[in-house]
Amino acid sequence: MTDEPKKLRAGVVGLGWAGQQHMQAYFDAANADLVALAGMEAEKLAELGDKYGVERRYADWESMIKSGDLDVISVATPTALHAPIAVGALNAGIHVLSEKPMAESGAAAATMVQAAKDNDRVLDVSFNHRQRGEVTALKEIIDRGRLGQIYYAKAGWLRRQGIPGLGTWFTRASLAGGGAMMDIGVHMLDMALHLLGNPEVSSATAATYAEFGPRGRGGSAYGPRANVDTKVDFEVEDLSTAFLRLDGGGTLLLESSWAQWIPYDQCYVALYGSEGGASIEWGGWGVEPYQRLNVWTEIDGIPAELQPIVPPAGHHEASVLKFLDKVQSGQFAEHRGEEALIRAKVLDAIYASAAKGTEVTL
Ligand SMILES: NC(=O)c1ccc[n+]([C@@H]2O[C@H](COP(=O)([O-])OP(=O)(O)OC[C@H]3O[C@@H](n4cnc5c(N)ncnc54)[C@H](O)[C@@H]3O)[C@@H](O)[C@H]2O)c1
Repeated sequence: MTDEPKKLRAGVVGLGWAGQQHMQAYFDAANADLVALAGMEAEKLAELGDKYGVERRYADWESMIKSGDLDVISVATPTALHAPIAVGALNAGIHVLSEKPMAESGAAAATMVQAAKDNDRVLDVSFNHRQRGEVTALKEIIDRGRLGQIYYAKAGWLRRQGIPGLGTWFTRASLAGGGAMMDIGVHMLDMALHLLGNPEVSSATAATYAEFGPRGRGGSAYGPRANVDTKVDFEVEDLSTAFLRLDGGGTLLLESSWAQWIPYDQCYVALYGSEGGASIEWGGWGVEPYQRLNVWTEIDGIPAELQPIVPPAGHHEASVLKFLDKVQSGQFAEHRGEEALIRAKVLDAIYASAAKGTEVTL
């Protein structure tokens, strides 16, 4: 009889939508027990504590970490708190899964990686869209060489009306670090670089715009702060575009908007290779939802369009399960958040280029 690995004791900091995805995933995981929650909204803390049967409830993250006896935590707070919480937890010997974006800057993200190395713990960042079935399927097709050498890619997440919380931390530069590119563009940046095999990004040329937010328009149609039509604290961009040069000569064109005059929300990654092209697209919610993976190539000299069978999506649940597996593997040195740190540095370069109006090298 083999010994079952012991269940990992998990805590979640942050009670918003993101934190709740992590709570559900730990609650459902066979190899974890959700034992602690932290967040500042007392009523929600009580409600979620009751829902998940969690007795240890804290109004702030420091008390939760000091309470001891935790193996892993998820960090789902305003972005500028990711680094202080992660570093605090790692220094206390706790493995950390942070929400995206990793931090508000590359420098802050680097402190997280350093703390993971210093304390020999796992640091992971939840890029949940990378767990989509289309991404898994396309990655396998690419790895088998079907697209040949991929030399050009386009990726974007464009919302028609989706500024998340006009005037809240999401639109404050010091707390969020940036706007649409930092919040949702980062998912597509991560997905594109992952599919491209993680080439180094050598430079960024970017521009940012804030045409909706400052007028109190473009607020998330799903939240309580849709168009308020008055001046609000809006210190970040609601649209960003970037042209990235990749080592080996490839290029990636990236765009992201929280609000824009388009028919519906749209997300995409398009790849152009020497032997084939591919596209992942999803969006159209509330109008005509779609979700597609297409590959264009030649088979035995015949032009062909493939529609691969897509495995089920994993989303947050898969991010959490993969994090738990990394912790249980004992191979901590391979998981220090370094890939996510590269994304944070690329975001730095994008914002620096937009501010300067020139190309910025990494
Ligand atoms: N991957 C995704 O799909 C996804 C979706 C939404 C948000 N996010 C990310 O998750 C993070 C949180 O976003 P959200 O929309 O859930 O935010 P939110 O504003 O709804 O929730 C933030 C939570 O952090 C808590 N918090 C703040 N300061 C704290 C402190 N000192 N101690 C303990 N708790 C504290 C708040 O009480 C609140 O419960 C952000 O980084 C965001 O980018 C990811």
